[in-house]
Amino acid sequence: MNRRRLPQAGTFQIAPSILSADFARLASEIAEVTAAGIEVVHLDVMDGHFVPNLTFGPPVVAWIRKCTDAVLDTHLMMTDPESYAERFVEAGSDHITFHIETVSDPAGFVRTLHDLGVSAGVTLNPDTPVEAVEPVAPLCDMVLVMTVNPGFGGQSFMDRAAQKCIRLRQIVGPDVRIEVDGGIDPTTAGTVKRYGADTFVAGNAIFGQSDRAAAIHAIRRAIENG
Ligand code: DX5
Ligand code: ZN
Repeated sequence: MNRRRLPQAGTFQIAPSILSADFARLASEIAEVTAAGIEVVHLDVMDGHFVPNLTFGPPVVAWIRKCTDAVLDTHLMMTDPESYAERFVEAGSDHITFHIETVSDPAGFVRTLHDLGVSAGVTLNPDTPVEAVEPVAPLCDMVLVMTVNPGFGGQSFMDRAAQKCIRLRQIVGPDVRIEVDGGIDPTTAGTVKRYGADTFVAGNAIFGQSDRAAAIHAIRRAIENG
């Protein structure tokens, strides 16, 4: 499989979350955002156990893989990511992020993901302290800071959680991406950029708008001016 790589750290990337897209028209929804210059698409996998919601699994990722060249940034909100990672890689995920709360040997799992040929990310819930990811974060390609409690799109941004980007940037340096996820829109994107984020997941602020290109442009402008 032809693996895509996350764009180099330091470049700002908006990663639309398809959670708020029309799943009956997923191919054209994704085509619309890539036509607006998007390189990374965020896939929210929920298992109904780690989070109180269900989305999709590897078969849907495989269909998405067939319809786009974008980097597939796969956010596993599931209890047992170690048992499923390989299936997501086979389906075409390019990057896999797991929750620190779900894995007993995070460094070992990062090695496994790298051996499978994909980049690795670790994420932490709003109430999980930075210290929980401190040892593994520098081994990762991206650290994801949840700025809402995971499970649903369209929730309000939590500034207190976003501030963890400041400390994380000191820990990982410039070469690891810091992604923020939850409530990112033109009013919050500039703030998280100032905290040190370079990757901005946005679901509702893009797919909840009728003009997706304009929505992306508005977030991009907020990042540039942030
Ligand atoms: C939340 C998901 C997010 C979500 C973001 O559990 O991980 O990726 O789709 O949605 P918005 O941008 O609408 O907060
Ligand atoms: Zn997500």
